[in-house]
Amino acid sequence: MKVGGVIRVPGDKSISHRALIFAALAEGASSIRDILPSADVQSTAGVLGALGVPVPPLSNDITIVGRGVRALTAPMDDLDCGNSGTTTRLVAGIAAARPFTSRFVGDASLSRRPMRRIADPLRAMGARVDVAPADGLPMTVHGGNLHTIEWRSETASAQVKSAILLAGVAAGVAVTVHEPARSRDHTERMLTALGATVAARGATVELAPVDRLAPLRIRVPADPSSSAFLTALAVLAHGGKLALPDVCLNPTRIGFYRALVRMGAELVLEEGESQGGEPVGTIIARPSSLRGIDVGRDDVPSMIDELPLVACLAARARGATTIRGAEDLRVKESDRIATVVANLRAIGVNADELPDGMCIEGSDRPLRGRVLTHGDHRVAMAFGVLRALPGSAIEIDDTSCVAVSYPGFWDDLSRAVVS
Ligand code: S3P
Repeated sequence: MKVGGVIRVPGDKSISHRALIFAALAEGASSIRDILPSADVQSTAGVLGALGVPVPPLSNDITIVGRGVRALTAPMDDLDCGNSGTTTRLVAGIAAARPFTSRFVGDASLSRRPMRRIADPLRAMGARVDVAPADGLPMTVHGGNLHTIEWRSETASAQVKSAILLAGVAAGVAVTVHEPARSRDHTERMLTALGATVAARGATVELAPVDRLAPLRIRVPADPSSSAFLTALAVLAHGGKLALPDVCLNPTRIGFYRALVRMGAELVLEEGESQGGEPVGTIIARPSSLRGIDVGRDDVPSMIDELPLVACLAARARGATTIRGAEDLRVKESDRIATVVANLRAIGVNADELPDGMCIEGSDRPLRGRVLTHGDHRVAMAFGVLRALPGSAIEIDDTSCVAVSYPGFWDDLSRAVVS
């Protein structure tokens, strides 16, 4: 199998959510180009509409007229966040600072995901938050006057950090968040670009009180979590090379590429000019022979969404790969430790669960069997890469769930294969 060509993967999901949210909170007309038109981002658009800021259909060039940092209005109905944890947790931060009640609901997977991690800091700021007894959705946020906070987060989570920062923005109060390790920093970068004062030192972020945010003009770069799948395909191919331009190369997001280089991959990251405060560049990937590696707690935050893919690549590497310090994988769109290990075994790979990760034994045995995605988009795409390899006979039960983050994934995957 040979790969070839130039593929611009769709816009970054984390930046797309934040662009919509900050456009809604800014004063005046914001312009967003190349937003990701996926189901998760659509959930954020729908929820903002229900809070009084209409968002047009997601196309290459949209304009949103924001109403200011304290202007969202009471929703008439439940806020349906679909499958999107980012929508729920970030918007809950803003809702906590508004004098009304909002009830957040979502699909079966989102309803099982932990919300206490944001309810606790929002309560500490003065909001009343009711979380479902098993810690999930429905979650009801009774907003009001919030006060300043200094919060020590137990997990390195950009969603928790951003919920607190957004609550601070919407309430006009200073906030400080300490994380055990630095999570993705798109919220901080965007706030700075819109005129807020944000200071980051190590894994601590401090936001000064905000009165207003300037309108946003942004072109959303391509998503490094989506280009990861095509990079993996190129690395596992037998010939050719693949170029993936315009990808967000923010250091808090590209741990996957650093890990791939450690595995022996021939990879070039060519950084170009930055866009909207984010470094952007082209990834060039070539077929490579891979070896197993150890992924540890310090590596995890910058590659959290790519760990299912690392596990699939490890199945084709020489030697064993161990992933540790990644217990948060158990509370993603599926329990990604259990789902990935069960699926690797189902296609003939030796793999074991660890409480906080997994071990995978690489081999060149043919990969055959049936994969159950549990509706998890990243599991479908990671095993989709293995399915595309010559000699594989892998069936995937649900291929449509990729719509959450990368609606054109299957087309792009076949486009990357030239013979
Ligand atoms: C995201 C943060 C991460 C990541 C998710 C998107 C974000 O979640 O897994 O896909 O946009 O802030 P956590 O904050 O729960 O680690």
